[in-house]
Amino acid sequence: MIRSLLLATAAAAMFAGTALAAAPIVPAPVSDTPREGAFQLDARTVISVPANDAQALASARYLADLLERSRGLKLAIRAPKADERAIVLSRQGPAGEAYKLDVGVQRITIASAGDAGLFYGAVSAWQLATAELGKGPAVLWARQIDDAPRFGWRGVMLDSARHFQSVDYVKGLIDRMALAKLNTLHWHLTDDQGWRLEIRKYPKLTEVGAWRVPAGPAAAADIDPKTGKPRVIGGYYTQDQVREIVAYAADRHVTIVPEIETPGHAHAPIVAYPQLGSAATPPTATSSDWGVFPYLYNVDEQTFAFLDDVLTEVVALFPGTYVHVGGDEAVKDQWKTNPAVQARMKELHIASERQLQGWFISRVEQMLHAKGRRLIGWDEILEGGVAETATVTSWRGIDGAIIAAKLGHDTILSPEPMMYLNYRQSAAPDEPPGRGGVVTLKDVYDYEPMPAALNPDEQRHVLGMQGNIWTEHARTEERVSKMLFPRVAAVAETAWSPAANKDWKGFADRLPAELGRYRALGLTFDETPLKVRALSTPQGDGARVTLLGAEQVGEIRYTLDGSAPGAGSTLYSQPFTAPLGTQVRAQAFRGGQPLAAASDIAVDARSIRTRASQELKACTGALVLNLEDDAPIQGERARFLVDILSPCWLYEGADLTGVSEVEVAVGQIPFNFQIGKDIEKIKFHPPATPEGELEIRQGSCQGAVVATLPLAPATRSQGVTVLKGKIAGAAGAAGPQDLCFTFTQKAVEPMWVVDRVTLVAGAADGR
Ligand code: ACM
Repeated sequence: MIRSLLLATAAAAMFAGTALAAAPIVPAPVSDTPREGAFQLDARTVISVPANDAQALASARYLADLLERSRGLKLAIRAPKADERAIVLSRQGPAGEAYKLDVGVQRITIASAGDAGLFYGAVSAWQLATAELGKGPAVLWARQIDDAPRFGWRGVMLDSARHFQSVDYVKGLIDRMALAKLNTLHWHLTDDQGWRLEIRKYPKLTEVGAWRVPAGPAAAADIDPKTGKPRVIGGYYTQDQVREIVAYAADRHVTIVPEIETPGHAHAPIVAYPQLGSAATPPTATSSDWGVFPYLYNVDEQTFAFLDDVLTEVVALFPGTYVHVGGDEAVKDQWKTNPAVQARMKELHIASERQLQGWFISRVEQMLHAKGRRLIGWDEILEGGVAETATVTSWRGIDGAIIAAKLGHDTILSPEPMMYLNYRQSAAPDEPPGRGGVVTLKDVYDYEPMPAALNPDEQRHVLGMQGNIWTEHARTEERVSKMLFPRVAAVAETAWSPAANKDWKGFADRLPAELGRYRALGLTFDETPLKVRALSTPQGDGARVTLLGAEQVGEIRYTLDGSAPGAGSTLYSQPFTAPLGTQVRAQAFRGGQPLAAASDIAVDARSIRTRASQELKACTGALVLNLEDDAPIQGERARFLVDILSPCWLYEGADLTGVSEVEVAVGQIPFNFQIGKDIEKIKFHPPATPEGELEIRQGSCQGAVVATLPLAPATRSQGVTVLKGKIAGAAGAAGPQDLCFTFTQKAVEPMWVVDRVTLVAGAADGR
């Protein structure tokens, strides 16, 4: 019977590998021993739990729900009859988060004495049942899995301050974390741009601090008929909602660490309660600027009383051990010039503002200790001296973690850029907005959190790691999910699986199944890095086609005859030539399974000479961001890759053969960046006309100007405008050469940006 069953399912099992393949579980388990035979999971399979075990029942229900949502199988939870195949949840197993998962022909046993372990065992069993996408029965190859986490702190940081996410979104993220065996949600609830937590004693924190007008003239002109003023964005979590989220997280073995930022990143609360601030002139409106604001809390006793009150309400809502109090990026200018702050420093015999921050954080730590909690802060908290009991989140690289552990502090690794999931995942033009640098799935995977500089004693202070999603440029929940996934799967594997088991190839082999699960459950992730795109250049009368996509993860297969690509189509190995008019259809695969939808790529006279800003090079690369246009208010907005400290783009090796015209789509964006004195570094050539010009130079940015396109027509639109003009002398300058694009301006506001460049070839070139 088993033999025929196996034959019947052999085709389905082909892609998922064989009985000997590694378990399709992410994060990879500690040990996985394949055995003879297989378990046939179908709607007659029952799930059984020990009597009177509410936690086991909860995990059984979680498993049943996952199987129903992914495979459409509705399994009963009850004691099995003698001949029934069953998934048995048992307490005869390891403690805590560890579990054993034993897949036999007749029984799957998930065993853990710990509630979390049982839950994780159930998740692993579900992953075995979803090795392939599809509804209905599944084959689970027999095996014995022993599993336990490498780190106790396996986290994601969600920034709900820069952009607000709904209660349902936060719950959904917690669910996805639980499926990745992540157990800590560091929830960034306050920042300069927004205060997101209801504090009953201080209602203005959310009445005022939770709302702001988005940056730019389009938002300023978007009048809300209810108020007659520009429409605001934002929101906050009521205490009832927070309790609901905390309970939801607890059910999934996720602890929430709330973050209340001090003493900086405090613009929003200071707007709500100006008496808390240090500036000579208090801010009067919430802001949609990004960057490092100068506003700090002052050091008056009434401010500490405020913080104590806030923390009292915070600890009543969040039952976990830790409260994060920020501590990062507190520029001390306002403290330096505030007479009351200076007087306080004298009185306390504190010599520097840095030490004052240490004293400030110590005050907050005492408050938390009095409430039975522990303080955690960004690595700047080390600078002013802080008690050994404080835990340090290392973000400015890993030095913070090394210093912390050597001083006896516990520490969490979340260094920029590898654990900063607000960086782009690929250089493709349609990546969601974010930081301009590229941090690929493999970059995240390859990150090893344990600093080599720590001895075994010091290593014990490394509690774990987390990936952070900062949301300045993640305006929608969909984009938050895209920035997070699938990279969170790589964070999870590093945080859970033993370092010795880590293996990029093995992870990539398991990725199609993981993506299949996302798809089966309808969960958003970023498919863009896995989709094939082309970067083509003119070659003779035709084109040289370079295919890109899924680098490091899979292989590209393509067709040129219009047929759909498959795992057996031509393997892409190097750029090829093709006549203009060719339609390339291409798709990335791993182990025969598609990684993303197929791409249709037109190779024509325009596409071979068109570059989006993301395909151009930033001339200096000082502070490159992938920014979204501020307009239109409704509908699709353009995205520009721009170096805001040096807005200058290079089209490298542009082939000017036969080119006489250029079309440049340009946009204008608000310069809403608090960058302090760095603003003086931004230089422009002076404009010749009142509205300014786009200048194109040949050879380099010091080369001769070959085109000057006045910006006047573009000033009439808040969106993107296509400017057209002749390229002087280009006709004579055949062959590849760099083109440099800059704008003439008097000031940074608005910042003009290149969206797309097309070099227009004459009729002789095949148009
Ligand atoms: C941070 O990125 N400022 C912690």
